[in-house]
Amino acid sequence: MATDAPYPELKKTHTMARRGRPWRDHKPPPSGPVWGVIQGVGSYWMLVAAIDLGVFDGIEQLGPTEVGPLADHLGVSPVPLQHLCDAMVSFGFLDQVDEIYELTETAERYLCTNGPASMAALVRVAPGPLANWERLADTIRTGTVAAPIEDDPVAFYGPLVQATFPTQLRAASRLGLRLGWSRRPGLRVLDLGAGRAPWAVAVLEASPGSTAVVNDLPGVVELAGQTVAERGLAERVEFRPGDFHEIEIEPGAYDVVVLGHVCRTEGDARSRALLRRAFEALRPEGQVLIADYFADNDRKFNPFGVQMGMTMLANTERGGMLTNAQVTGWLRDAGFEAARLIEPIGFNFVYVAATPPAAHRPGGSA
Ligand SMILES: C[S@@+](CC[C@H](N)C(=O)[O-])C[C@H]1O[C@@H](n2cnc3c(N)ncnc32)[C@H](O)[C@@H]1O
Repeated sequence: MATDAPYPELKKTHTMARRGRPWRDHKPPPSGPVWGVIQGVGSYWMLVAAIDLGVFDGIEQLGPTEVGPLADHLGVSPVPLQHLCDAMVSFGFLDQVDEIYELTETAERYLCTNGPASMAALVRVAPGPLANWERLADTIRTGTVAAPIEDDPVAFYGPLVQATFPTQLRAASRLGLRLGWSRRPGLRVLDLGAGRAPWAVAVLEASPGSTAVVNDLPGVVELAGQTVAERGLAERVEFRPGDFHEIEIEPGAYDVVVLGHVCRTEGDARSRALLRRAFEALRPEGQVLIADYFADNDRKFNPFGVQMGMTMLANTERGGMLTNAQVTGWLRDAGFEAARLIEPIGFNFVYVAATPPAAHRPGGSA
């Protein structure tokens, strides 16, 4: 007897998972990549809704659960919630077995509010003002962003630096292990555009007796003050509010100057100016750290860096993609040497480069 076969057979080569260049002469390429981009908008908002409703935190509190108890716990309608949970399963953020939903490790780590590397608050702020995305074609046509974040930097950066602190502290702490800050007591650090100061905090917590000057715009630098106070570091930190292109910086006074995720909004000329300031601020054999999401030199092998460049173009006055060649060029032109690129956590790259020894600096004795 013939058995039922109610589902259409899928051609394996026509699934969304198919990757690679199609054969033009043999069969048409799949439309999956276009659908993937279209659904990207919906996917983003599904994740925002799940975080806003407390789906991940709720499952963390209840433990593995059917949708009914979760709906009661969150005070939402069960059928729509089940759709949302199934969408989260499709992203790999929840597992579902026999109608029981539970968190995947990804969700535990990144999507619960108290996850060890929580990005829950970052999801809403990371794309920048959403209206800029709807106007992207205009931005590209005219070269002008309608509502750049520089129009009200404090309103944008306050929530952003709050949301990125756990990730950047992790990146900075791991970099410190690589650079041996714990074996270098008494470091003097200048953190420019510090946000909540994850980079300065990582140095202060690793290097005994180290001290820091922490800079950011008035209205944001106070957030760094809170972090530093919460972590018992206040006595070792001086705050220097103001524009990092204009504040006073003592020459030759620092062992480490940090430019943490600031260059990608600054553009070529202003980033070069910041690096010249960093060079002047450093002692001989001091180190500059440039943390950012760099794109590869061909602008096609690191989609994350390329897309982050587009996010900057869409939302900032001067920002855009930063390639590795561009940044190493800035470093060399400013006089730095021994540049190396470290990836302390995924996608978060850091250039570390040094000022020459005293004898080899312009005006040095040799
Ligand atoms: C993307 S956040 C990076 C924060 C922190 N350095 C980190 O790596 O997590 C950029 C920071 O630069 C600050 N910033 C932007 N323009 C600035 C300026 N002209 N002077 C001082 N700070 C500035 C912003 O307020 C914001 O805190």
